[in-house]
Amino acid sequence: MKYDFNQLVDRRPWNSSKWMKNSRPYQKGDLLPMPIADSDFATCQPAIDALKAYVEQGTYGYSTDSKTLIPAVQNWFSSRFGWKVEADWIDFNSGVMDGCFSVLSAMTQPGDSVIIQNPVYPPFYSNTKNSGCNIVLNPMKFNGKRYEMDFEQLESLFYGSQPKPKVLLLCSPHNATGRVWSLEELKKLTSILIKHDCYLISDEMHFDIVRAGVKHHTMGSLGPEIEQRMAVMSAGSKTFNLAGLRTSYIVIPNAEIREKYKKFRIGRAGGNYMGKLALEACYTDGVEWLEQMNAHIDSNLEYMVNAINTRCAPLKCCMPEGTYLLWIDCHGLKKSQPDLMKWLLEDLQLVFNDGSAFGEGGEGFIRVNVACPIQLVEEAVERLEAGIRKLNLK
Ligand SMILES: Cc1ncc(COP(=O)(O)O)c(C=O)c1O
Repeated sequence: MKYDFNQLVDRRPWNSSKWMKNSRPYQKGDLLPMPIADSDFATCQPAIDALKAYVEQGTYGYSTDSKTLIPAVQNWFSSRFGWKVEADWIDFNSGVMDGCFSVLSAMTQPGDSVIIQNPVYPPFYSNTKNSGCNIVLNPMKFNGKRYEMDFEQLESLFYGSQPKPKVLLLCSPHNATGRVWSLEELKKLTSILIKHDCYLISDEMHFDIVRAGVKHHTMGSLGPEIEQRMAVMSAGSKTFNLAGLRTSYIVIPNAEIREKYKKFRIGRAGGNYMGKLALEACYTDGVEWLEQMNAHIDSNLEYMVNAINTRCAPLKCCMPEGTYLLWIDCHGLKKSQPDLMKWLLEDLQLVFNDGSAFGEGGEGFIRVNVACPIQLVEEAVERLEAGIRKLNLK
């Protein structure tokens, strides 16, 4: 089946967080929303069919999971990422950050230190603080072409007078820089964590959205030693645009960590039945849709990266290896962050994410979501180009 990713779906009647600021169907010149990491695409037909059948039968009482749900998740990991996941390692949550909070609480005591590689998805900070832990930053380095983990600095965090960090929170692929960590980088990271007896929580929420030819490596595939000291989280939320169905999963291979984690799950939601129905349908019959969506994202990004670097100087950006997010360097505009965001919103009617929300190293940047029809990407570029021309920069 051929899907049309350039068809604009009106998401406002359903209170889309991204679109609700507009009061009528999108028209040229309206506020153009490209923040928040969900897509504007209708999901794959098998998921829509599964949800329709459930909605139409009318009973929405308590349900148990289908017997084929866990095998669908296991198959997703083994067929796409070469990781054999046992059924009892998997648990469902109402969101990746929900699962992350529980496993972080299981791995730490209040007052422990947790390493975060900044700039990064903002809830990494709030989740860590809410679990009572201290944040230790290991800022990433930008080498002119891409962001990299600073391994030397990372090692140094385990020496010295402060207590040894207990956990490292990894974003893989990385939101917002779009890095897809290479096998070599992940092996280096793994050996440092094992050497210093540090746990790993790997947020792999964006793992299906990679550029043609780029390969994501799940942390679970890096060997039995790291497998026993980590948790991997993901969902169909980004991949298949299911975030509103509030369902994600976590994989915890170590039985002791899993037992502790379960204590932090008491009274918390383990996903929702409609989310699970949709996830299973997508993981069983959604690959064709996913391949077409990734081709569409590749093409939107090619257009926008090229346009930013040629028509929108002094803005700069690199092609992200993964995610549908673009991290744009706006330092050349010489605006303070509040002025930059005000200019984008009030003068250009563009809603992007403020880079400073991603922590230290995010100032001077914006994050733009291109998971939408190409017409909107073109419109955003036109507004940026015209707005920069008006600034009359020398
Ligand atoms: C890296 C990453 N993790 C987690 C989330 C949020 O996931 P959830 O809504 O399932 O908690 C996002 C959403 O943007 C994300 O980009």
